[in-house]
Amino acid sequence: MPSFPSTRLRRLRAADWTRRLVRETALSPDDLIWTVIVSDRADPTEPVPSMPGVERLNVSEAAKAAVRARTLGIPAIAIFPNIDPGLKDAHGSKADDPNGLVADCIKAMKDAAPEVGIICDVALDPFTDHGHDGLLAAGEILNDATVERLIDQALMQAEAGCDVIAPSDMMDGRIGAIRTALDEEGFENVLILSYAAKYASAFYGPYRDAIGSSTALQGDKKTYQMDPANTDEALREVALDIEEGADMVMVKPGMPYLDIVARVKAEFEMPTYAFQVSGEYAMIKAAEANGWIDGERAMMESLLAFKRAGADGILTYFAPEAAERMTG
Ligand code: PBG
Repeated sequence: MPSFPSTRLRRLRAADWTRRLVRETALSPDDLIWTVIVSDRADPTEPVPSMPGVERLNVSEAAKAAVRARTLGIPAIAIFPNIDPGLKDAHGSKADDPNGLVADCIKAMKDAAPEVGIICDVALDPFTDHGHDGLLAAGEILNDATVERLIDQALMQAEAGCDVIAPSDMMDGRIGAIRTALDEEGFENVLILSYAAKYASAFYGPYRDAIGSSTALQGDKKTYQMDPANTDEALREVALDIEEGADMVMVKPGMPYLDIVARVKAEFEMPTYAFQVSGEYAMIKAAEANGWIDGERAMMESLLAFKRAGADGILTYFAPEAAERMTG
C-alpha cells in the first residue's frame, strides 16, 4: 500500500455515501435472538430491577412476544424460566415437567407465531433450590447423573415443540447424549445450539436475579463453567460439542469474550453465536440512565462488534429495541 501523502484514508470517511459504500459489516434483525424471561407468577409482566426495560412475562405475554418478534423480523426467541421458589428442589424435579411453565410457553408461542424459532435452555439451575445447573452431592456437581436429567429436560422441550435445544450447563458429554436421545425418540430434526464455551462470569448477576436463582446459589460455578483466563480450552470445548452433534455453537458472555468468538469462528467455520448477557445489558442501561453514555448508540455499536468479530448472530435482551431501530 502506498503511504502518506498519496494514501489518505480519511478520503473514504469524508461523506456518508462513501462510509456506506465501504462499510464491511452490517447488522439486521436476522442477526438477533431475543432472550426472554418467563415466569409462572408474572401478572402479566413484572420488571426485573437490575435489567431496566426487561420484564418477566407470563405465558400469554410470552405468546405476544413471539408475535412481536415475527413483526420485527427477529428469527428466534430464547426463553428462560423463573418459577415459584416453592417448586424448586435439590433435583430440579420440575425441569422436565410436561405441564410446567416452559412447556406451556413453547406451546403458546408456537401457536401464536409458528414462524418464530423457539430456543430452550437446558440446565437445572432455574429448578434447583441450590441454584446449580447440575445435581449436587457432598459439595460436588455430578456430571453423568446430571446428564441423565438434562436428557429428560431436552426430551420434554422437544415434545412440547421446541425447535432448538440449547444446553447451557457445561457438563461433559451432554451434547452427544442429548443428540442420541433426541434421535431415538424421533426428534432428529430438532436442532442443538450448544453453549460450548461458557465462562464462570460475574456478568450473569442480573440474570440470576431475573430467574430467582441468585439468592439460592450456594458457592460458585467454577467446577463446570470455564476459567475466564483460557482460550485454547474454549477450542477444545467447541471441538467436542461439534463432534458430539451440535448444529450451532455459542460463546458466552459476549463482549468481554470477542477474542473467543473470533477464534472459534475462524477455526471451525460453524454457525457461531455470542450471548450478550444480562450484566452487559445492565451496564449499558445503567450508564444510559445516569446520562453517562448514549445508550442507543452503545447498544448498536455493541451488537455490531459481535458481527465484526465473526458471530453469525447475537442472543440479546436488546433484540426488540435494536430491531425497532433497524426497521423503524
Ligand atoms: C444457566 C444460565 C445462565 C445464563 C443463561 N443460562 C447463568 C448461569 O450460568 O449462572 C446467563 C444469562 C445472562 O446472564 O443473561 N444455565
